[in-house]
Amino acid sequence: MGDRPSDNLDRAPTLISVDAKSPDQDALKAPARALSEGALVAFPTETVYGLGANALSAEAISRIYAAKGRPATNPLIVHIARIEDVENIVTAFTPDAQKLARTFWPGPLTLILGRKNTVPGTVSAGLSTVAVRMPAHPVARALIALAGCPVAAPSANRYTEVSPTRAEHVLRGLGARVDYIIDAGPTSVGLESTVLSLVEPRPTILRPGMITREEIARVLPAVIYAQNAELADTAQRPSPGLARRHYSPQATLRVVDDLACALADYAAKPAAKIGLILHAASPQNIPENLADLIAPDARLNLGDDPARYAHKLYDALHHLDQLGCTHILVQTPPQGDPWRAIHDRLARAAD
Ligand code: TXA
Ligand code: MG
Repeated sequence: MGDRPSDNLDRAPTLISVDAKSPDQDALKAPARALSEGALVAFPTETVYGLGANALSAEAISRIYAAKGRPATNPLIVHIARIEDVENIVTAFTPDAQKLARTFWPGPLTLILGRKNTVPGTVSAGLSTVAVRMPAHPVARALIALAGCPVAAPSANRYTEVSPTRAEHVLRGLGARVDYIIDAGPTSVGLESTVLSLVEPRPTILRPGMITREEIARVLPAVIYAQNAELADTAQRPSPGLARRHYSPQATLRVVDDLACALADYAAKPAAKIGLILHAASPQNIPENLADLIAPDARLNLGDDPARYAHKLYDALHHLDQLGCTHILVQTPPQGDPWRAIHDRLARAAD
């Protein structure tokens, strides 16, 4: 033990800052090389920061699971820099998959297809399928291209914690468990990719994301959302990573319709320090006798645009945890397909 960098918890990761739009290729060479040789490199994608390892190395893959504290039953997404690289990952890049890739790649859509034997089974937690996506973030693509190998990357957080949308979140959550952290500022989408299975009888969205069913239906009209599968806590879940409790902040989180009523529950609990996540249509006046329960700087309005709300949500949860909030109350966001991924993540973050 201790001979591999990630085993040594005393050593800080190497931090490298690059421009998000046109990253300095020279600065990425060392982490790209380390990545290809088995190191763990955290890097920005347009959704959240990923914890990358060489997807063709079973040993590198096992280090991802160890660093995250993630059960071996939870499969990883393989990231590629160019569409043609998908042929090395999947058994068949089907006509449906090609249509989707042409429309949504590079971007926050993950496709589940048959797994080629060149990809170690541990990437997919032993499944015969594999998740693959081509990210849109210039830093992710430059890093993967320089590494010269497909990159397996879950979100760069400890198991069940909130996904990171900034390099600071990765450092705080994983610290010396990772060898490099590449910092290119906050991510743009803010929620994890839409996961779409093309190996079910009908194309099935296993994890909603900011690419919605309605958008995918313009390309594949038969697409459906998995039937509540994501919230059922059984071994039969089509996507084993969709455990009920996930994406949780340290504070207890509740999604509430009536803020004043929810706040009143804490009136008799002087130790409660409450953070609020509102949207533009939330009632803005909190009854005066309850206003003291809300920590300073802990009343966050994420607005009424779902893309903007998603962009800010995880950052808001990290921020409220940092403030030491014991409870987070989230005003129920608007309904509708563009809000579906937001509702999904909030439901998982709630206890
Ligand atoms: O936006 C994202 O997807 C981010 C960035 C880093 O790309 N990655 C991410 O990875 O969210 P992770 O590991 O946190 O989530 C992967 C999801 C899990 O829900 C997992 O169950 C599902 O993808 N998944 C992976 N491989 C699968 C497979 N072969 N079959 C079904 N679901 C799979
Ligand atoms: Mg994750």
